[in-house]
Amino acid sequence: LVTLGLVTIAGYLLGSIPFGVLLTRAFGAGDVRKIGSGNIGATNVLRTGRKDLAIATLLLDAGKGAVALLLARYITGSEVAAALAGGAAFLGHLYPVWLKFKGGKGVATFFGLMLAAHWPLGLVAALIWLVCAFAFRISSLSALIASAVTPLIGITSVASMGFPIAKPIYLLAIFAAVLIWFRHHENIGRLIKGQEPKIGGKKAGDV
Ligand code: G3P
Repeated sequence: LVTLGLVTIAGYLLGSIPFGVLLTRAFGAGDVRKIGSGNIGATNVLRTGRKDLAIATLLLDAGKGAVALLLARYITGSEVAAALAGGAAFLGHLYPVWLKFKGGKGVATFFGLMLAAHWPLGLVAALIWLVCAFAFRISSLSALIASAVTPLIGITSVASMGFPIAKPIYLLAIFAAVLIWFRHHENIGRLIKGQEPKIGGKKAGDV
């Protein structure tokens, strides 16, 4: 139980590192929270015009989720601990103590978690995001679709293709997907009104 607690706390602390804020500040791109959507994620870092920092934010935000989960799995050998640490890292990203609990929307961290937890599922999730991003050119819409479809795929095709998913990992996917939708309520409002900016769009304020 002590080990479970420790890997969960470590997961939260790892997840709470706000790479988007740290990178934009460190490399002279201002405070990402003051531009675009105000979010600390890679999509909004891209709106600073710094593609390199956006890619780094994406990789590091995904990486911290993956590391938290893999570390817990390595130390304990348990999928329950892995999912708990992963879930804690996800919550750390969404509600980091360092930013007065005002964190990100969890998309990159979700992909990192899924890739580490169950790589075929993570790969499918990332591919769905990519296909949607190419088709619609809207980051939030792609994230909403990918996160909603991932748990569904988890229970059907990936499992039947011979990649069974441990129950705690499956629950982690659902937990994260629900929170992603919850954190995108402003994006959903803009999507309904047709006001959500496009990736590489020409309108002012577009990504
Ligand atoms: O990763 C978050 C993305 O889905 C939306 O970001 O900045 O457009 O709200 P943003």
